[in-house]
Amino acid sequence: MNKITVIGAGNVGATCANVIAHKDLANEVVLLDVKEGLAEGKALDIWQTSSINHFNTRVTGSTNDYLKTKGSGIIVITSGIPRKPGMSRDDLIKTNASIVKEVTEKAIKYSPDAIIIVVSNPLDVMTYAAFLAANKDPHKVFGMAGILDTGRYKAFLASALEVSPTDIHAMLLGGHGDTMVPLPRYTSVSGIPVTELLGPAVIEKIVERTRKGGGELVSLIGTSAWYAPGAAVSQMVEAIVDDQKRIFPVCAYLDGEYGQKNLYLGVPVKLGKGGVEEIIEISLNAEEKKLLTSSVDSVKKVMKVLDDMKLFEE
Ligand code: NAI
Ligand code: 2OP
Repeated sequence: MNKITVIGAGNVGATCANVIAHKDLANEVVLLDVKEGLAEGKALDIWQTSSINHFNTRVTGSTNDYLKTKGSGIIVITSGIPRKPGMSRDDLIKTNASIVKEVTEKAIKYSPDAIIIVVSNPLDVMTYAAFLAANKDPHKVFGMAGILDTGRYKAFLASALEVSPTDIHAMLLGGHGDTMVPLPRYTSVSGIPVTELLGPAVIEKIVERTRKGGGELVSLIGTSAWYAPGAAVSQMVEAIVDDQKRIFPVCAYLDGEYGQKNLYLGVPVKLGKGGVEEIIEISLNAEEKKLLTSSVDSVKKVMKVLDDMKLFEE
C-alpha cells in the first residue's frame, strides 16, 4: 500500500498514524486535520521517531488540504468530537454526522478507489453516513469497534485468568454501545472454552465491564480512549494491506445477514485486500438473539436521528 490517509490528528488519529508507521504498513501516512498546524506538527514528531524506532513509512501532515491525500489506498476517519464524562456516544451525532459527511466527500474525490475505515462515534451510524457520502460498494466502507471491544474483553479475561491475552480468542456482535454483545460461547483460551475456566458470575461481570469499557476510560481520563482504538484500527489496516483474510468483528453493512437489511452493525467478517470479503453468520441461542435484537434497536434509534437530520437529501 503506497499511501494511507488518517483524517483527524487528535488522540485516536495520531495514535493510529503512529502505529501504522511503526509497523511500516505504507510508504506514506498522511495525517489531516482542520486545526492549523496540528497534523503537520504531529506528523513531524512521529517521523522524527523513524530512526529511533527503525521504520521507513514517511509521515506527513496537512491542514485541510485534501490534494495531499490523493491516491490513498485506505482512508481512516477519526475526525469529530469525542465524548466527555456524562455523555454517551450517541450524544455526538449532531456534530459528527456533518463532519463525517464532509470529510468523506472531500477525501473520496482524490482517492475514489480507497477503502474507508470509520472510527468517529456514534460508530455504527457514522459508518452508515460515510457509506452514503462515499456512495460506493459497502464492502469497502466499514467501521472499527469490535477489535477494540474484544481487546478490552480479552484484557479483562487475561487478568482474571492470569494468562497471556494473546492466547484468548473471542467474538462479539452488535453496535458499539453499552448494548454490545460479547459472546462467552465463542470465547476460548488456546482452544479451551472460557466457560470451562471461569464461572458464570465472573464471566457476566467481565462481559458487563466490557460493555461499559469505553465509559470506564472516559471517567478516568476525562475524554475517550486512544491507545487501544489506534492499535485496533492499525490491525485492520494491516489485515487489508497484507491481504491477511483475518476474521475480526467489524462494523459492516448487512444485506439480510443476521436478519438485518440496510444497516451497519458489528459482526464477524473476513478482512483482506478487498475490504470486508465475507460476513460470517454464526448460530446464536435464544438469549444471544435477544441481546442482539436489543443492540440492533439501539443502533436503529440513532439511525433515526441521522435520518431526521436530512443530511443526505438532495
Ligand atoms: P480528538 O478531539 O482528540 O480528535 C478529533 C480531531 O478531529 C481533532 O483534532 C479535530 O480538530 C479534528 N476534526 C474535527 N473536525 C474536522 C474536520 N471537519 N476535518 C478534519 N478534522 C477535523 O478526538 P479523539 O479522541 O481522537 O476521537 C475521535 C473520534 O473517534 C470521536 O468521535 C470518538 O468518539 C471516536 N472514537 C471511536 C472509537 C471506536 O471504537 N470506534 C474509539 C475511540 C474514539
Ligand atoms: C471507546 O469505546 C469512545 O468509542 C470509544 O473508547
